[in-house]
Amino acid sequence: MEQKMKDYKRILVSAALPYANGPLHIGHLSGCYIPADIYVRYQRAQKRDIKFVGGSDEHGVPITIRAMKEGITPQQVVDKYHALIKESLEQMGISFDIYSRTSNKVHHETASAFFKKLYDEGLFEEKETEQFYDEKAKTFLADRYIVGTCPICGNPNAYGDQCERCGSSLSPEILINPRSTLSDAVPVKRKTTHWYFPLQQYESWLKEWIIEGHKEWKNNVYGQCKSWLDNGLQSRAMTRDSNWGIKVPLPNTEGKVLYVWFDAPIGYISATKELTPDWADYWCREDTKLVHFIGKDNIVFHCIIFPAMLKAHGNFVLPDNVPANEFLNIEGEKVSTSRNWAVWVDEYVKDFPGCEDALRYVLCANAPETKDNDFTWKDFQERNNSELVAIFGNFVNRAFVLMHKLCNGKVPPLHNEILDTTDKAIIRDIEDAKTKVENLLEEYKFREALFEVIDLSRKGNKYLQEKEPWKKAANKPGAITSIDDQKQIDNCLHICLQLTANLAILINPFLPNTAKKMLHLMKVVDKILDWQNAGKLKLLSVGYSLRPPELLFRKIEDAEIAAQVEKLHKNATKPNQNSTVEEKKTVVEEPKAEIQYDDFAKLDLRTGKILAAEKVEKADKLLKLEIDLGTEKRIIVSGIALHFKPEEIIGKQVVVVANLAPRKMRGIESNGMILMAENSEGKLFFVNPDNEIEAGATVS
Ligand code: 2FM
Ligand code: ZN
Repeated sequence: MEQKMKDYKRILVSAALPYANGPLHIGHLSGCYIPADIYVRYQRAQKRDIKFVGGSDEHGVPITIRAMKEGITPQQVVDKYHALIKESLEQMGISFDIYSRTSNKVHHETASAFFKKLYDEGLFEEKETEQFYDEKAKTFLADRYIVGTCPICGNPNAYGDQCERCGSSLSPEILINPRSTLSDAVPVKRKTTHWYFPLQQYESWLKEWIIEGHKEWKNNVYGQCKSWLDNGLQSRAMTRDSNWGIKVPLPNTEGKVLYVWFDAPIGYISATKELTPDWADYWCREDTKLVHFIGKDNIVFHCIIFPAMLKAHGNFVLPDNVPANEFLNIEGEKVSTSRNWAVWVDEYVKDFPGCEDALRYVLCANAPETKDNDFTWKDFQERNNSELVAIFGNFVNRAFVLMHKLCNGKVPPLHNEILDTTDKAIIRDIEDAKTKVENLLEEYKFREALFEVIDLSRKGNKYLQEKEPWKKAANKPGAITSIDDQKQIDNCLHICLQLTANLAILINPFLPNTAKKMLHLMKVVDKILDWQNAGKLKLLSVGYSLRPPELLFRKIEDAEIAAQVEKLHKNATKPNQNSTVEEKKTVVEEPKAEIQYDDFAKLDLRTGKILAAEKVEKADKLLKLEIDLGTEKRIIVSGIALHFKPEEIIGKQVVVVANLAPRKMRGIESNGMILMAENSEGKLFFVNPDNEIEAGATVS
């Protein structure tokens, strides 16, 4: 079972290091930075010893590809994007204690020393293998540098490690017409030596540690770990042939660097070193609670590979939890940086100045905590206008307006002797909210926790509505409110103002700017936001005069939303100016080289009919199809899931390449391929006979 907080003396929180190869988008925020920041701000308010570390991930293939695309050096790429990302994070109030970068000297030293220790202890396997080499560019090629035609879906610009159209994991060997993205040369195989980390040796320990020891981890995280462990682990190369990265700290290893996924998580240690001379307290003492906030694509690295590295090293603590979020789609489609289908944080901040908390609110209220979720601009507007403005903001505003109107702008006294059941109920709600929000935050349930805060303000509105203090006040000129009525008014507004102070404490981890505005209105100091003050009713002193009301949030207008939706679509239809590989996707394909009839005759093309279709787990783009081929039924895995719903295509006639060698995709053997046509916008169409024809007919 998870250790309870009291067993820990300090907390170290990390948020994934974003690649410094592009700006930050809202998927990054909702995936890890906002939940991490909420957690950290809450723990700080609890006065716990906590450090929050992060930084830019500046090594690896993503950086070198971006440099190639922009025609600049990798160092220029990371300098540019590190600054941009850092600024966006600051603007969104992500309150890192340090936001570092992996090109720093201290990081190079830390990662090198880590590698060297494992090497010296004989924990790596040294292996010579054949890897692809570009003879023109005179360099080994990472899988990402090789492009060719995907054997599964025919995408002519599939990468050597993955086809971005059908989602299949590939290897350069199976690409059709492979070519180097550096020089267009056909890659050749060449021998090279690398150091492999034998993950399989840590398998039984990992099983015990995660499967038995961390059943409390989120289902999505636990499930992914279990499936990796059930499938069996293998050695992984921890070095690469490249000139960009941390040099392998061994003699005669020119042109070899540490694998980016070896060095990046060590970046959390380096950042802590940079932050404080007491860094070892946070990394080397068992009473530290280490929590990694990440997105789901980072789960294996943070739950399996990095912990195995830490275990092998022996001096460091292991993560207590890895509360990974799933993905946030935009207007129903996956975020694609290359297609520019994203909401960029730097642009949001410019387009909606002063509305950073509105975005924090929506991204938390709609966070992909258990499954992928969708961000739509309409939903953003609705949540802002009908939750933040109409519930939370409205309550605080009403409390202030009424206090100024009915209580001379001062906190009225509380007359305990006349508290009725409605008053007592809302007082209990205030007290309960603290425990509810606190328990949910400790369990990383940020959406629910935020809901509880908004719910408390909803209760505040209801309370005001029931009490109707404005009706008790004498409203004729010269008339005087009776003492009893004034007492009722006092009680109602006293409670509403204490409730407002409570809301400031509870909302602070989520919407720090809003909490600040509330402090300003109440003329109180930051200290009031200490978590221990939540649930209390004596936060504002009787007789204290408060500022006149000011709105906490502004309404978002239809025109602003329409402009954003238009911008998203307009920018996405343009091929990304920075994309070279993908740019070609939207233009008509070049004719292919001539072939002989014999080449064509090798294809066994047959008509078939789709009998069943279902989504493939953890592969958003793949459908598993059962195809009737007349004499037999075949399972074919096809990369069409983003274009068709399974139920729409049952009964469709298709043309099948029936003699394609079987291939395993996501553990499913695919026996053939169905032919699809793709128009210039990337829309897919079935290729099929113009009339019903029996399954299994030959196509030639
Ligand atoms: O997926 C990514 O963007 C990686 N740069 C995350 C690295 S997290 C950590 F290991 F540094
Ligand atoms: Zn493909």
